[in-house]
Amino acid sequence: MTGEPKPIVLDVDTGVDDACALLLAATHPALDLRAVTCVGGNAPVDDVVRNTLSVLETVGRTDVPVSRGAARPLLEHPHDARHVHGDDGMGDLGWRRPTVQPDTRHAVELLRDVCLAAAASGEHVTVVPTAPMTNIALLLRTYPDVARGIAEIVFMGGAAQVGNATASAEFNVFHDPEAAAIALDAAAELSIPVTMYGLDVFYDPVVSREQAAELVAVGGGTGAELAGRLIQFQCDRFGRDAATIGDAGAVCAVIDPDALTTQVLPIRVELAGHWSRGRTIVDRRDWSGDLSHDPHGEPPVRVRVALGVDHDRYVDLWRESILRQAGAR
Ligand code: BDR
Ligand code: CA
Repeated sequence: MTGEPKPIVLDVDTGVDDACALLLAATHPALDLRAVTCVGGNAPVDDVVRNTLSVLETVGRTDVPVSRGAARPLLEHPHDARHVHGDDGMGDLGWRRPTVQPDTRHAVELLRDVCLAAAASGEHVTVVPTAPMTNIALLLRTYPDVARGIAEIVFMGGAAQVGNATASAEFNVFHDPEAAAIALDAAAELSIPVTMYGLDVFYDPVVSREQAAELVAVGGGTGAELAGRLIQFQCDRFGRDAATIGDAGAVCAVIDPDALTTQVLPIRVELAGHWSRGRTIVDRRDWSGDLSHDPHGEPPVRVRVALGVDHDRYVDLWRESILRQAGAR
């Protein structure tokens, strides 16, 4: 973790665990957070914008432009996840409302501007979608030139194994399957490397109730207090003694990729199935005989799939960064 901070943008549907991701991306010295774009997902997009601005303001990052993006999936009707994230989308904590306004550009325009500006100065931005990929699909299809300024895409979504929104599908991909399929397809066409931080690792980095209480005890309306209260909300909602940092793991994966066990694998997004719509079909077969005789042919898309994580390392990374910013380290 030495050298220049990595330029990064987040595309979020804040979201309790997107808030956890923002707290890390906005405070860690190894990252240079250049923009945050919002999309409807866990909550309607206007709530997502408010929640996102509120988190960034909590940690003093009103310098980061935040834009409103797609309000709904490309084809599906929106299905929010307020049963997971609360009525306001961020744990109904009654947290401070933002005093700043979003950027006036549409999310896709802001992403384009950030990526092209990076390309013009010889830099490459890591794009981290932790939400349905509607904005990302629109970006890559509308402005394929942005690929010149993108280092890689590290997205939270999908799974090699199980689902959560349905038995088959993970929420972000399920919410807008066409967008996920388009984003992965476009990334392959444009030679943008992709890492999938999906449900195979998402639930592993957990923060205990004791650790959450320590964060809350910092108090003062700091990012640490917010982080602790977000974890407590999840513990209460799911009736558990610990809760995942969720989307924050995808940001950890940018800072410390070596803590992941990964495999580059072919992937398809199921668009036609009824019970399986939105599933990411990750091909883990290793016998070339089966692969070469598959009547579907070889999938055009291959991504680096996270299959294991050193969860304590990610939890420490997340807590330390947030505590340091709050002056508690
Ligand atoms: C994903 O869906 C949302 O509920 C979370 O914010 C996360 O991005 C997990 O499936
Ligand atoms: Ca999310």
